[in-house]
Parts: sequence; structure tokens; C-alpha cells
Amino acid sequence: MTSVFSGKKILITAGPTYEPIDPVRFIGNRSSGKMGYAIAEALASMGAEVILVSGPVHITPTQKNIQLIKVQTAQELCDACCTYFTEEIEIGIYAAAVADYTPKEVSESKIKKNDGELVLTLVKTKDVLKEMGARKHSNQILVGFALETDQEEVHAQQKLVKKNLDFIVLNSLRDTGAGFAVDTNKITILDKYNKITKFELKDKKEVALDIIDYLKNFIHA
Ligand code: CTP
Repeated sequence: MTSVFSGKKILITAGPTYEPIDPVRFIGNRSSGKMGYAIAEALASMGAEVILVSGPVHITPTQKNIQLIKVQTAQELCDACCTYFTEEIEIGIYAAAVADYTPKEVSESKIKKNDGELVLTLVKTKDVLKEMGARKHSNQILVGFALETDQEEVHAQQKLVKKNLDFIVLNSLRDTGAGFAVDTNKITILDKYNKITKFELKDKKEVALDIIDYLKNFIHA
């Protein structure tokens, strides 16, 4: 059976980024990559050609039509997206939890402890999705994620506009069973037509199917 995603070229980002402090330490986050990988697996099983740009996670893709590009840092993720988010890509799904800040200087040798405080200066990373939104063509669909703790819909709406997205998938950390280190998720989708759709708490694999179903509304005939 052919699906609307057969042969479609799709780029997905997933997982955290690790920002090095010295050869043994980094700043990271609790993203498991499960949401992005579940979307990648499901779309690939529907016949899509998926490029999966992934930060460090403990999952391995199973579908043969997933091309895995492994990255560590926000800068590497940014470079990979610049390389692979070409005009041929029809859909970009940005599920990675990219570090917003990175250490200004990386020590070449392991930082030894001393009696005083250790002060790290952090500089902003590039907002990859915003950059991709700025270069988006009219035939490309762009999907982002937002993880919020307060004024969730207001913040998600602002990101939708700022990053030039077709729709944004919102998770609230106030919902039990939603977020990073769990197998379930509870999402709300806000789209560029000001439509807001709320979904029940589900397994991340089922959430992936809801997101993919929503994506079908934006596929050009
Ligand atoms: N994102 C990205 N590059 C970054 C930061 C975020 O591509 N440097 C993407 C994420 O993959 C996600 C979306 O942008 O799809 C929202 O990320 P988030 O960190 O919540 O948004 P920010 O705009 O960074 O806002 P804030 O951290 O202030 O909530």
C-alpha cells in the first residue's frame, strides 16, 4: 500500500546536544530522543526517505531508509541541518532539544578543582530551527517542538511565528507523563491557521502517529 509519504524526503532532528566544558565534561539535557526516533521510524515505515540528525542517544534506527547523521554539539547539529536541509527536503521536523547556550571556551585539559568557585561563561548557540524557517521555501513544511512550564500556549504560539513554522507540537512539563525521560507524552498542536488541537496522554509511538496524521493536512497535492 502506498502512503502520501512514499518517496518523500524528510529531515528530522532528535535527541539532546552535549556542549563540552573540558575533555571529560559537558553540559547536556535529559532528552532521550524517543519522540524524534518514533516519528522517524513511523515515517520510514510509510516509505519516506528520512535523514535523522541525532544528538547522543541510546537508540538505533531499525528502518533501512533512515540515514543517520550523528552529532554532539549544537554547532554540529546546525552544520548538519545546513548541509542536509536542501531544497529537495519536503518536510523538516525539529524535535531535538538543542542547547541554547554553550561554554565560551573549552579547556583542552581536564579542569582541576581548587578552593574557589568555578565560573563558566556561556554564549548563545544558533537557533537552528529559526535559521531553517528563514530559508524555508513555500513547498516545504516545517514542524517544531516546544517544551514549556508556564503560559504554554502563548510561548508556543510565539515560537510558531518567530520560527516560521507550519505547526508546533507543545509539551507541558506540568502534565504528568509528558516530557523528556518518559515513554508517554501529552501534546497540543498549534498551527499557522490558529487552530489548536489537544491530544490525550499516550505512548510516544502513538503520539508520533498523531503528529504524522496532522502532517497530512499540510501535504500539497
Ligand atoms: N531549536 C533549534 N535550535 C536551537 C534551539 C531550539 O532548532 N538552538 C528548536 C527545537 O528543536 C524545537 C524548537 O526550536 O523544535 C523550540 O525549542 P526551544 O528551546 O523550546 O525554544 P527557544 O526558542 O530556544 O526558547 P526557550 O528556550 O526560551 O523556551
